[in-house]
Amino acid sequence: MAQDDYDGKDITVAHSSGADHSLGDQDPGLAVVPTDGFSDPGLLPHRQRVTDADPKKARKAERTVYTLFYLSIVGSIFAIAAYMAFPMESNNVGDVRLSTVFIGLGITLALLAIGFGAVHWGKSLMADHEGIDIRHPTRGSDETRERAVEIFDEANRESGFGRRTLIRNSLIGALIAFPLPAVVLFRGLAPQDQDPVKLLSHTMWKKGTRLTLDPSGLPVKATDVTLGSAFHIIPEGLAELEHGKLEEKAKAAVLLMRLRPEDLNQLPDRKNWSYDGIVAYSKICTHVGCPVALYEQQTHHLLCPCHQSQFDVANHCEVIFGPAKRPLPQLPIAVDAEGYLVAQSDFHEPVGPSFWERS
Ligand code: FES
Repeated sequence: MAQDDYDGKDITVAHSSGADHSLGDQDPGLAVVPTDGFSDPGLLPHRQRVTDADPKKARKAERTVYTLFYLSIVGSIFAIAAYMAFPMESNNVGDVRLSTVFIGLGITLALLAIGFGAVHWGKSLMADHEGIDIRHPTRGSDETRERAVEIFDEANRESGFGRRTLIRNSLIGALIAFPLPAVVLFRGLAPQDQDPVKLLSHTMWKKGTRLTLDPSGLPVKATDVTLGSAFHIIPEGLAELEHGKLEEKAKAAVLLMRLRPEDLNQLPDRKNWSYDGIVAYSKICTHVGCPVALYEQQTHHLLCPCHQSQFDVANHCEVIFGPAKRPLPQLPIAVDAEGYLVAQSDFHEPVGPSFWERS
């Protein structure tokens, strides 16, 4: 005989060859309950830690823990110092490499030291006794909540979080210092002394700026742009910039394409923004700013490879598929006296993600 765990009814094991078949009229082949249940192995004998037996060892462990937390603070400061010591604006590959290596080392040290410190604290100093937590329904009752508070109090007492102030404060310091490199690094991505919105609303394009090839900087004549072709364009002068070249290019990059003039469906107020079927549109996707670089000359569609937004060049680059929410901004162009393509002005709207339109 064996006993059901749930309602205490006796259930007899049904063996095909068995001796006992006392389930009455029921099919004996279905109810099989093993008779040899597991025995509780119990807990292993408690082994005292050296830090429990020897106060000197406990103090040494405490020193190790707060030293690791202080080391984490040093790592965070080191990462910030490395960021300042090797500025990436120099466009020097050596500086970029050193910056990446030292910032990485600093952040690694900061993270590892917090991790090792926390583990060492738990293993060597926090209370070391085995506990048994009986399973119960997940629904919380008042008693459960009170017990939770008790557990927190107990954990606080046993971990010494409130009592060991040096450890606690150094851990808090390490946790506060750890995100600082990220704050400094992200701040460095924004312009330091100018209004970022204003800066992102304007590009290098202005009246008379020649359209030049990316990356050579050679000016493009209208006669160079054959039907069906597409060119990657940057403003004249960008290739020679010594500072901020990438930032300017990220805003001013343009795609130049030639369609048959009768295929172009131009908005009434943009009739003179193109030249003999040649149109120029921002290359920066209005979704999240990837370069829209794939041109399908048969359908006149531009594809952004990041999230597959598609823009119809024949219809003022309106969005025909994908997550982008607005057309690519058009650059008004004309031809100068020597036959070179030039901009008529800057873009008439901010380039890139739609977010900037909201400002
Ligand atoms: S960035 Fe172009 S579709 Fe997302």
